[in-house]
Amino acid sequence: MAKRRATYLCQECGAVYNRWMGKCEACGAWNSIVEEVGGDASASLPAALRSPRSKGRVFALEGLEGESKEPPRTPSGIAELDRVTGGGFVRGSVILIGGDPGIGKSTLLMQASAALANDGRRVAYISGEEAVGQVRLRAERMGLAGSPVELAAQTNVEDIIATLSEGAVPALVVIDSIQTMWTDTVESAPGTVTQVRASAQHLIRYAKTSGAAVILVGHVTKDGQIAGPRVVEHMVDAVASFEGDSAHHFRILRAVKNRFGPTDEIGVFEMTGKGLAEVANPSALFLEGRDTAAPGTAVFAGMEGTRPLLVEIQALVAPTALGTPRRAVVGWDPARLSMVVAVLEAHAGLKLGMHDIYLNVAGGMRVTEPACDLAAAAALVSSLSGAALPADSAYFGELGLSGAVRPVSQAPTRMKEAAKLGFSTAVIPALRGEADGATPLRSNVIGHITELVAQIAARGRHRNAASG
Ligand code: TYD
Ligand code: MG
Repeated sequence: MAKRRATYLCQECGAVYNRWMGKCEACGAWNSIVEEVGGDASASLPAALRSPRSKGRVFALEGLEGESKEPPRTPSGIAELDRVTGGGFVRGSVILIGGDPGIGKSTLLMQASAALANDGRRVAYISGEEAVGQVRLRAERMGLAGSPVELAAQTNVEDIIATLSEGAVPALVVIDSIQTMWTDTVESAPGTVTQVRASAQHLIRYAKTSGAAVILVGHVTKDGQIAGPRVVEHMVDAVASFEGDSAHHFRILRAVKNRFGPTDEIGVFEMTGKGLAEVANPSALFLEGRDTAAPGTAVFAGMEGTRPLLVEIQALVAPTALGTPRRAVVGWDPARLSMVVAVLEAHAGLKLGMHDIYLNVAGGMRVTEPACDLAAAAALVSSLSGAALPADSAYFGELGLSGAVRPVSQAPTRMKEAAKLGFSTAVIPALRGEADGATPLRSNVIGHITELVAQIAARGRHRNAASG
C-alpha cells in the first residue's frame, strides 16, 4: 500500500503544496500553510473512485427548450434579506454568509429562523460556537424566545445530518459556523481547509437530497476574504457577505454570488438593542449628520443593484509633512483614487504630488461603482481649494483618462432618489437623451473635468472676496 504522503494546504485559499513555505504563492498570505494528512483532494477519495470506471452509464441529453420552473422559494418575511436572496431561500440550495466576527451574522440568522418557525415551518439552528443557553439568551434579548426554532450545539456533521433526517424535512437549517464543523471521513483537525471542505460537501449533499435550504456561516479574515471557506465559495449556490463598521450601527448584506437571483443587490439593516432592524430608506441614513458647510464633501448618487443609494464622499487634501505623501482610502477602490488624482493633475493642472490625500465613504459604506469618480473629484478639489460644494448638489459620472466625464447607467433613477432627499441640482455628464428634464432636478452638465474645477475655483474666489 502506498505510504500516506503529507500535504501542505494554505488555510486561506486551499492551495496545495508538497512542502512547507512561509508564503502562499497562490493568494500571497503569510504563515498560512499547514501540514494536513490526506489534504490532497484525490488522496481522500475512496480507491474505487480514484481510477475511472471502464465503462460509464449512458444518459439522455436534453435541449435548451422545455419546461422550466422558477425554483421553489421560502421567503423569510424580512424584506431586506429576501431582496438579497432574490425572493427567499431556494429549497435544496446552500448559502454561505460571511462576515467579520461580531458583525451580527448569528443575530440575523436567528431572526430569519424565528420568522420562518413562527410561520409554521421546521427550522433547525445548529451552533458550533455557542452553547444552547447563549443562543437562547440572544433570542430572548430580541423577543424571539417563543418561536419554535429547534436548537442544538453540535459540531459533528454526521450526527447533525442523522438528527435532521428524522421527522419532517426542515425548511431551513442554519450551521453557525462552518469552521467549527468536522466529519469522521477526514483526519484533519476541525477548522482546517480539509475539514471545512469535507464538512461543507456533506452538508451540500444533504441539502440537495433532502430539499432543505442550508445556510453556512463563515468567518472572514482581515482582508475581507472568507477564510478557509473560500474553498467553499464555489461549492455553494449563493455567497453573501455581511458588512459594516463596528463604529456604526448599520450593516449591509451583499450578494456576492447567486445562482438563483441577482448578485448586485444589498440589504441594509441597523443593529439595535433588540436585534437587527430593516432600513427601508438607506440614503437618509447615510446622509444623516452631514456637515454641508465644510469643504471636501460631495454627495454621490449611486446604485446598488436596482436600488439608488446616496452616500457622502469625504476628502481631505493636506500638504504632506513627510517625504512620501500618504494616500488612504476607506470604502472605495484605491486604484480608482490614483486614477482620479492623475487625471486632476494631468488635465486640470492641480498639484497634488506633495499632498496627503484621504478619501472616505461616510458611514462605513463600500462603493464599487466607477460612477463615483465625479463625486470623488469634486470632494478632492473642494478640499484642496477650501471651498465647500453647494449643499443641494448630488454628483455622479465616470471619469475617462482624457478628463472627459462619461455617462453612467440609470441616471433617471439616481436623480429621482436625489430629488426625493431634497437635492435640487445634479452635477452630471451629458445624458444620452434618457428622460432628461423628467426629474425635478436641475442638471449641471459637466463635459470635462476642467469645467468642474473651474466651477469650484469660482466658488472659492467668491468666498474669499466675501470674507476679505
Ligand atoms: P452576533 O450576531 O453574535 O455576531 P456574529 O455572529 O457575526 O459574530 O452579534 C454580535 C454583536 O451584536 C454584539 O456585539 C452585540 C450586538 N447585538 C446588539 O447590539 N443587539 C442585539 O439585539 C444583539 C442580539 C446583538
Ligand atoms: Mg456568531
